Amino acid sequence: MTLDQAKGLRNIVKDHKAARGESQMTSHKKNLPRVIAVTSGKGGVGKTNLVGNMAVALTRTGKRVAVIDADVGLANIDIIFNLRPQYNIRHVIQSEKTLKQVMVTSVHGVKILPGGSGFSDLAHLSDGEKLTLLSEFETLIDMADIILVDTGAGISANVLYFNSACDEVVVIATREPTSITDAYAMMKVMSQEYGTKYFKLIVNMVESEKEAKKVYASLSAALDKFLKNVVLEYGGYIPMDRQLQLAVQKRSLVMDTSPDSVSSKAIHKIAQDLVNHPLRENTNGNLTFFMNKVFQAVS
Ligand SMILES: Nc1ncnc2c1ncn2[C@@H]1O[C@H](COP(=O)(O)OP(=O)(O)OP(=O)(O)O)[C@@H](O)[C@H]1O
Ligand SMILES: [Mg+2]
Repeated sequence: MTLDQAKGLRNIVKDHKAARGESQMTSHKKNLPRVIAVTSGKGGVGKTNLVGNMAVALTRTGKRVAVIDADVGLANIDIIFNLRPQYNIRHVIQSEKTLKQVMVTSVHGVKILPGGSGFSDLAHLSDGEKLTLLSEFETLIDMADIILVDTGAGISANVLYFNSACDEVVVIATREPTSITDAYAMMKVMSQEYGTKYFKLIVNMVESEKEAKKVYASLSAALDKFLKNVVLEYGGYIPMDRQLQLAVQKRSLVMDTSPDSVSSKAIHKIAQDLVNHPLRENTNGNLTFFMNKVFQAVS
């Protein structure tokens, strides 16, 4: 998007809000949902399972939780919730359906925006499409206290775009060197291209906390050396757990099939710690609500 296009877009949003009698500060005044991206450099490290199980854990503590499946083409949040949604985010972008019509609710009460293919170039939507998505996402403000975004893996424009639009970015890594290197690459590109300074690390599929802390230490050391202004917090770990794998095979969440398993307990603790930890001011630039960043980039 060029500078002129971005300015034009801002004006469209201003007019659009004025037409609806809303001020530019509408979303600041409301009790905004906390928007958390769960991402990774390498694929298959446990994002979808963390998002799904964390959503259930938080719902059980009385929070209203929405999940956005932003995993391009490989949408699988619906699989572990055993849902077969008819519509997805693409229908919203194309103005065929509203967000409310597309969202499905799990038996736990988690509201899910299904992903689905066809929006791989979300970072390059037309102005009209961005506007549609923005106003539809605004309807989420009243629906959720916490919004979890399963971003998909890698450093594609789409993943970076979603990460940059969230209040917090949680990075998952395992002890595998490739996963650690890719997590580092993700933080590097996010910090250099979007100015993201804070990340939280969850280490998955380890035997012990000691092992998780080692992964954290090696990533922290690399950041200290090469990306001094980036802060990585340790957000916890999830043990390697056969019960989680069995749950996935049954299109289920381990939180449902084995609530007392080590992974269920660990994810429960991660979820609690995450929401008990106050949100940093200006965590990700000046973002206050999902998508608004796109329009706030140019003043
Ligand atoms: N704590 C764990 N213990 C054992 N196996 C796990 C654990 N977490 C994840 N797995 C295994 O890894 C697989 C991939 O997990 P998941 O789909 O959550 O990863 P992902 O990061 O979302 O993958 P993708 O990048 O493809 O979207 C699971 O199906 C499961 O078999
Ligand atoms: Mg996934």
